[in-house]
Amino acid sequence: MKKLLIINLLCALSFIAFAQETSKEEVVHSKENSNCFSCHGSPTYTYYNDVVERDITKRMNPYFLIDSVLYYDQNHKSFECIDCHAYEFKTFPHDNTLRMEPMPSCLDCHEGDDATAMYNFEVINDEFHESVHSTKHSDEFTCWMCHNPHSYKINASNNSNIRETIIYDNNICLSCHADINKYQLISGNTKPNVIDKHDWLPNQISHFASVRCIECHTHVSDEALVAHHIQTKDKAVKKCVECHSSNATLMTSLYRFQAQENRRKYGFFNAAILEDSYMIGANRNLYLNILSAIIFGSVFFVILIHTLLRILLK
Ligand code: HEC
Ligand code: HEC
Ligand code: HEC
Ligand code: HEC
Ligand code: HEC
Ligand code: HEC
Ligand code: HEC
Repeated sequence: MKKLLIINLLCALSFIAFAQETSKEEVVHSKENSNCFSCHGSPTYTYYNDVVERDITKRMNPYFLIDSVLYYDQNHKSFECIDCHAYEFKTFPHDNTLRMEPMPSCLDCHEGDDATAMYNFEVINDEFHESVHSTKHSDEFTCWMCHNPHSYKINASNNSNIRETIIYDNNICLSCHADINKYQLISGNTKPNVIDKHDWLPNQISHFASVRCIECHTHVSDEALVAHHIQTKDKAVKKCVECHSSNATLMTSLYRFQAQENRRKYGFFNAAILEDSYMIGANRNLYLNILSAIIFGSVFFVILIHTLLRILLK
């Protein structure tokens, strides 16, 4: 009887937990957006042409294609297209003047927003405005250049898989620094080859998969989890010891989220990196340290006795 009661209680509890889980799930507006996706979600679209009085099929501009799977798996998945775009886009052909319309910036919505205060938008905004990108190209270079309006999803602050975050973040930079078509939206200069420019780094492939571009290229501060102050190339980290030592830059940036999580879980700092990989110079083991001190001490002691005896015996 008692057992049954407990089971019932457990069922009720798990139901409540489930209900909370589902109510937390955000509403998506797939119905409202389906009209836009009918054209912007496929390589071809069809519309009724009043002049020739029949359906016409055309190819969609590939840069105007939006992946609906990524769209409904991102920060702003609950948005209707017309939350950011003009309502008038509902009619086709779109009015020509619509393309002139200014787009909202992140700060338009997030400045002073309590729900996302933990991301420190104001700090990030200031850091970004000091970065090379912004100081050299203030008007064209907006936050949207790195944060794709239709697919950006937070990683660094909630993904415990460091490798995934590294790939995600580096692809943001490489979307321009490895793609001339996007790069030239900002600068007419021919793009320098990032691979050649990092020739000095041994095992470049392995490094690019284990550290983020921003680890070497930003000025790290304590205030925001992801540093946005990208500096000119002469200020980039080139010294190996910045990372290959026990109190390295990486601890304050890449592993910061991990370190916090693990400190909560395991109560010690090194857990963050010990778990994931071995990094020359950064991983220390207390017992190995003591052991090597003992070995070193005894060798020194033997040499000392040896020289003393030699001097005395002479
Ligand atoms: C019948 C197909 C069709 C539908 C439906 C459609 N679009 Fe478009 N859209 C296009 C085509 C084709 C272009 C490129 C030519 C142009 O600008 O008219 C375009 C261009 C755009 C552009 C880029 C404008 C520019 O030049 O910068 C935006 C933004 C856009 N559409 C948003 C929307 C939104 C939002 C919806 C839904 C409310 C929508 N579209 C529905 C076909 C469509
Ligand atoms: C959170 C705001 C936001 C939402 C929601 C949004 N967009 Fe956009 N969209 C933008 C911004 C900002 C740009 C301009 C990007 C830029 O200038 O780099 C843009 C650009 C576009 C373009 C032109 C692409 C280009 O590279 O110029 C199209 C087409 C488009 N959006 C369609 C849509 C459709 C369709 C939806 C809904 C499925 C949608 N957008 C939802 C913010 C949004
Ligand atoms: C049109 C308004 C609007 C714009 C523009 C906008 N956001 Fe948001 N964003 C929201 C809303 C609403 C939410 C939902 C969270 C909330 O309740 O505030 C959100 C959520 C987020 C989240 C939190 C996601 C989560 O799951 O915790 C991040 C991160 C975010 N936005 C980043 C950005 C960035 C970066 C930009 C600019 C590139 C941007 N947003 C532009 C309105 C906007
Ligand atoms: C040069 C590229 C770049 C630009 C420009 C940029 N960001 Fe970011 N931002 C990133 C990267 C990379 C991340 C890490 C993404 C991840 O893993 O979640 C990030 C993360 C963020 C986050 C999430 C931080 C967290 O704690 O998870 C916010 C919020 C944000 N950016 C806001 C902005 C705003 C606001 C602007 C414009 C003022 C901006 N970003 C411009 C590259 C950029
Ligand atoms: C929208 C395209 C774009 C994206 C995304 C982008 N960059 Fe850039 N970046 C540029 C352009 C264009 C320049 C050249 C600025 C100039 O000198 O006119 C530049 C310059 C730089 C420089 C300065 C080089 C020098 O000459 O001193 C560094 C470092 C840099 N980017 C790193 C990054 C990192 C790290 C990221 C990702 C967080 C990133 N970029 C994302 C377009 C981009
Ligand atoms: C280990 C540190 C490190 C990493 C990781 C790193 N960089 Fe660099 N990067 C540098 C240094 C140092 C320079 C300056 C090289 C020089 O001037 O000889 C540089 C130069 C650059 C330049 C300027 C090229 C030029 O001469 O115009 C760009 C752009 C750049 N890096 C982008 C990136 C991108 C994008 C990534 C990620 C895929 C990245 N970096 C990863 C350290 C790094
Ligand atoms: C921004 C941080 C950072 C900088 C700067 C840096 N490294 Fe590394 N390095 C790493 C990380 C993280 C790994 C771990 C790779 C792994 O576990 O897969 C690594 C791995 C290595 C490895 C082992 C490569 C392999 O394939 O396993 C060597 C060798 C190395 N680094 C040498 C250097 C040298 C030499 C320099 C200076 C020119 C340098 N690193 C600068 C972060 C850095």
